[in-house]
Amino acid sequence: MTDVLAEAIGAGRVFGTNGSRVVALKHATCRIERGDRIALVGPSGSGKSTLLHLLAGLDEPTSGTVRWPGLGERETLRPAKLSFVFQTESLLAPLTVLENIEVPRLLAGSNPNEARNDASLILRALDLAELADKLPEEISGGQAQRAAVARSLVTQPELILADEPTGQLDHHTAKHLLSLLLRRIKGTDTALVIATHDPFVASRMETQWTMDHGVLR
Ligand SMILES: Nc1ncnc2c1ncn2[C@@H]1O[C@H](COP(=O)(O)OP(=O)(O)O)[C@@H](O)[C@H]1O
Ligand SMILES: [Mg+2]
Repeated sequence: MTDVLAEAIGAGRVFGTNGSRVVALKHATCRIERGDRIALVGPSGSGKSTLLHLLAGLDEPTSGTVRWPGLGERETLRPAKLSFVFQTESLLAPLTVLENIEVPRLLAGSNPNEARNDASLILRALDLAELADKLPEEISGGQAQRAAVARSLVTQPELILADEPTGQLDHHTAKHLLSLLLRRIKGTDTALVIATHDPFVASRMETQWTMDHGVLR
């Protein structure tokens, strides 16, 4: 089986038409292989989220191709094989933190008891056990971000794409979350791509990709 989990070949994404036309991504060619640890860095508006959404199959390129040779067809990626940590709030409001973390496992067809058990273990591993029974509205933005990272781990995916997962955290908390995340996937083949502004976060990853005005270098 191929080690290439996801690849973009000359992928571009244009939003809008005529007067409101924005070229968010130009001709990006890249590949993510098993076990990769990649930081995607670049200023705000440079196209990081656009590229991550394409690589996750959440959006489609307007030119070029994105494919997942080692994972399968786009429709089969989520929730089990590929997880996404959204830049903006993404917890489901009526569910507790623990229930939010169980959801991907339940969608993937796991036994409910196992899903609950594993969700609890992940919360503990990420130092979030005390949030288990809270609703999203009862926790801070930073805590919600950490819970979203916990949710991305519960299916033991082959690829995690995280869009500025430490963006709302202070430096100490960001460092701690990243260490726990890296420890959790250490020794596994899970590939991780993190879009980040934080030079410290970027420095902990083996590979750096840089985005500038829609161009990936
Ligand atoms: N849905 C959208 N509609 C119109 N423009 C968009 C949309 N999403 C992103 N853009 C534009 O595409 C460019 C890249 O955005 P984005 O990928 O979010 O950058 P980053 O994540 O690096 O901050 C920006 O100019 C942004 O305004
Ligand atoms: Mg972004």
